[in-house]
Amino acid sequence: MAQENELKNGKVLANTTALVTGGSRGIGRAIAERLAADGALVAVTYNASKDAAEEVVAGIEQAGGKAFALFADLVNASAIPALFEQLDTELTSRTGSNVLHILVNNAGNSGWGGLADATPESFDTMFAVHARAPFFMTQAAQSRLSDGGRIINISSGLATRPLPMVPIYSMAKAAINTLTHALAMELGKRGITVNSVATGWTKTDMNAAVRENSDMVKSIEADTSLGRFGETSDIASVVAFLASHEGRWVTAQVIEASGGYRL
Ligand SMILES: NC(=O)c1ccc[n+]([C@@H]2O[C@H](COP(=O)([O-])OP(=O)(O)OC[C@H]3O[C@@H](n4cnc5c(N)ncnc54)[C@H](OP(=O)(O)O)[C@@H]3O)[C@@H](O)[C@H]2O)c1
Repeated sequence: MAQENELKNGKVLANTTALVTGGSRGIGRAIAERLAADGALVAVTYNASKDAAEEVVAGIEQAGGKAFALFADLVNASAIPALFEQLDTELTSRTGSNVLHILVNNAGNSGWGGLADATPESFDTMFAVHARAPFFMTQAAQSRLSDGGRIINISSGLATRPLPMVPIYSMAKAAINTLTHALAMELGKRGITVNSVATGWTKTDMNAAVRENSDMVKSIEADTSLGRFGETSDIASVVAFLASHEGRWVTAQVIEASGGYRL
């Protein structure tokens, strides 16, 4: 009955569960808010920004949605199984089962690392969050994911058009695109779709310094077909489509959401 009422209200993700990594800020926050608005119960992970994550959860609840926050250190892949055990507990207490329908691998650390200043440690940290964590998150999620579920990896246009100043970041995003293709074959047998959303320049803390430079902003906007910086909601809309029933036939794709960035 609850589902019928929710569907009548247009909640296309009614009775689904989602996990969004890095949901405390930026793009992940917008994705968590959108999936919750569409009816999903959303687990939001945070690392340093506990207060921000709690604010996201409170905002979702005030809007009539359902969410909770979990701590995750995605530099440390060996902590991922424990994260999922916590997720099991939280989901089971709210829904009666630990079934997960939507996994969004979004978290990303900054400190982009150029050729001159990178160290083996900074390289590993970048790869740990952007490439290794999505792999092990997916490994841990497999047994919890429903048949017909969704995996959505937040990638970047830089994976295919790398910027010289951020080689490590660009490499890590290429890795997640390759992971997307590999997993789509593996998990397609269960009807699970796996896609990357290759994000363009989007207003978040990650590029706050870039946006303080008006020449850079003008140049980025001039190279963008739609003539502006992206909003986090622009990315969340694409994720919401992929997560919904409407996106069921799209898998193994890298979908660029950049307003038509030309470089
Ligand atoms: N913004 C853009 O223009 C753009 C363009 C292309 C791709 N992307 C991609 O979009 C994704 C989100 O980026 P964003 O711009 O929204 O960045 P952001 O505003 O800086 O947010 C990053 C998120 O990742 C989390 N995070 C960082 N390090 C983590 C760690 N070690 N363990 C767990 N979580 C961690 C943060 O959590 P805490 O704050 O709680 O630490 C935060 O929630 C990233 O994968 C990024 O590469 C962004």
